[in-house]
Amino acid sequence: MANQIPEEVIEEIRKANDVVDVIGEYVQLKKQGKNYFGLCPFHGEKTPSFSVTQEKQIFHCFGCQKGGNVVTFLMEMENFSFYEALKHLADRAGVQLPEQEYRKESSLSGENQSILSAYEWLTKLYHHLLKFTKDGKAGYNYFKERGINEEAVDAFQLGFAPNVKDFTAEFLEKKGFHQQLLIKAGLLSLQDDHSVTDRFRGRVIFPIRNHLGKTIGFGGRAIMEQEPKYLNSSESELFQKGKLLYNFDLAKRHIRKQNEVILFEGYMDVISAYQAGFKNVIATMGTALTENQAKLLRRYVDTVILCYDSDNAGLEGTYKAAELLRKTGCQVKVTNMENGMDPDDFIKQFGAEAFDNQVIKASDTYMGFYMRYLKKDYHLNLEGDRIEYVENVLKQLAMIDSPIEREYYLKELSNEYSISLDTLKDELNNNRQEAGIHKDKREKNRYTNRGSSFTKQRKLLPAFHNAERQLISYMLQDVNITDKVQEEIGAAFNVDEHKIIATHLYAFYEAGHPADVSLFIEKLSDQRVKQLVAEIAMAPVLEDISDQVIHDYIRIIRAEMSDKVSVKSLKEAQKLAEQQNDPIKAAQIAMQIIEIRKQWEQSN
Ligand code: UTP
Ligand code: MN
Repeated sequence: MANQIPEEVIEEIRKANDVVDVIGEYVQLKKQGKNYFGLCPFHGEKTPSFSVTQEKQIFHCFGCQKGGNVVTFLMEMENFSFYEALKHLADRAGVQLPEQEYRKESSLSGENQSILSAYEWLTKLYHHLLKFTKDGKAGYNYFKERGINEEAVDAFQLGFAPNVKDFTAEFLEKKGFHQQLLIKAGLLSLQDDHSVTDRFRGRVIFPIRNHLGKTIGFGGRAIMEQEPKYLNSSESELFQKGKLLYNFDLAKRHIRKQNEVILFEGYMDVISAYQAGFKNVIATMGTALTENQAKLLRRYVDTVILCYDSDNAGLEGTYKAAELLRKTGCQVKVTNMENGMDPDDFIKQFGAEAFDNQVIKASDTYMGFYMRYLKKDYHLNLEGDRIEYVENVLKQLAMIDSPIEREYYLKELSNEYSISLDTLKDELNNNRQEAGIHKDKREKNRYTNRGSSFTKQRKLLPAFHNAERQLISYMLQDVNITDKVQEEIGAAFNVDEHKIIATHLYAFYEAGHPADVSLFIEKLSDQRVKQLVAEIAMAPVLEDISDQVIHDYIRIIRAEMSDKVSVKSLKEAQKLAEQQNDPIKAAQIAMQIIEIRKQWEQSN
């Protein structure tokens, strides 16, 4: 592996970061038996085939075959270089990565590294200006007036960009940043007359951090009459609003713990809620929720609480986001505030407790929201509209899995529109039949349902192939078994990949390493082999395996090998017979080959 970091250090870092904890920061994992399961972060799926074992410190996806240890995971997930993955894990565990001249390969281009550095400088500068200088006073007062406290100002690194044409440009150029780069970074604007000015002037600054906590953009809010109200950094490779969620880096721990996330529309909503004690809070940034964001959330939580502004735009945005999230497999709840309010207004006016009890805890189910949403299209005092409305609601209700929830809304409709419950039920069942939903379809637990989905994906393998996999999985956890296998068959496995693994494994144990799959994977360089090792190691194995079973595996592997060898030599003999114009002999040999093949089929 291309690095000069001492092995002991790599080992220490790896040991200090439990694979379940680290992956748990990206994927909601549920324990089942010895392993943990979740939705694979590397390919889209709705039933979990991604598994992690604590015991072996590795992961494997039965769906897309990705697998490896904690370091590999971060390299895949974050596109990190080996060094970056280790650095991240070292920081995470508070382990010192000795500062030496390692090859600090970066996954970012030099340009992007500079942009990150420019943002880091500016975030500090704007924050400092806001808090401590006369120039920043206007910004400071603005936040004060909006009720933002000191702790929140610090937590969100809020700042102020003074109303000067080239304040930022000058500051950064003095630090050696090039003008072109700063334009690309969305910090300076090229004017029509080709002059260059600061993009953010006379605005309070909301630094926007990516999920790793690095600032990659700014939102700048006007504090006086100035258009637009919010000005954001321009889109770039690093700053893509459709892929980011405001405050995700700080919130993700809480989101995971509570298995619930509150999604807002605005920066101020997030900060207000944060200040009121809600930590699982994030926001989109002036764009509709994207599929990318919905999928990201799905990996973290079961339930998303949509808390958008209670105006028309908010209602439409909520509907679209709810549809998207449901399609992704999330449960959706929707808050309902008095008309015209946004979450920040509500908290300010009624306080944190009221927000919790009357808004968050009182949020509607998706169906409740849908009924409310649909109403705006109808004049419900008109008989015709009423019928159409109820029919429409029933169509949507037919899609709801939970019988209890269906019953609940049927009753509500029955009461509100004076229609008998039986009539509504009939109509609903018709709808369900039309939509191809079975009446007694039970809601299946997606975790207990798992087995069938990925045993199906596994192709049926011939007996010798299975024997080799089984044997390797025992070899991976037992040095003695490995010794025995090495003695008996060496690397004479039939499947090439298995040969490679066995050879590496012999060398690994010979170097004095203990049985440790995660470490073994660390030492392998070929990505495909790493993944295969993870997959094989995931297979359940017996604690106490008898010599007899091991012997049987070896026998099957040997038999396959010798059959292969004899078929090969028979084929050569057949060819020779043909060349020597001896068709009878050739036919006899052909029969022998067929006989061996037949036996294969029977034994496999
Ligand atoms: P809002 O207009 O609801 O802003 O836009 P807000 O969060 O309530 O802000 P305050 O309370 O008026 O200060 C919601 C989000 O849409 C984006 C911003 O991300 C904002 O937080 N937005 C809004 C823009 O990007 N540009 C705009 O001009 C307005
Ligand atoms: Mn708002």
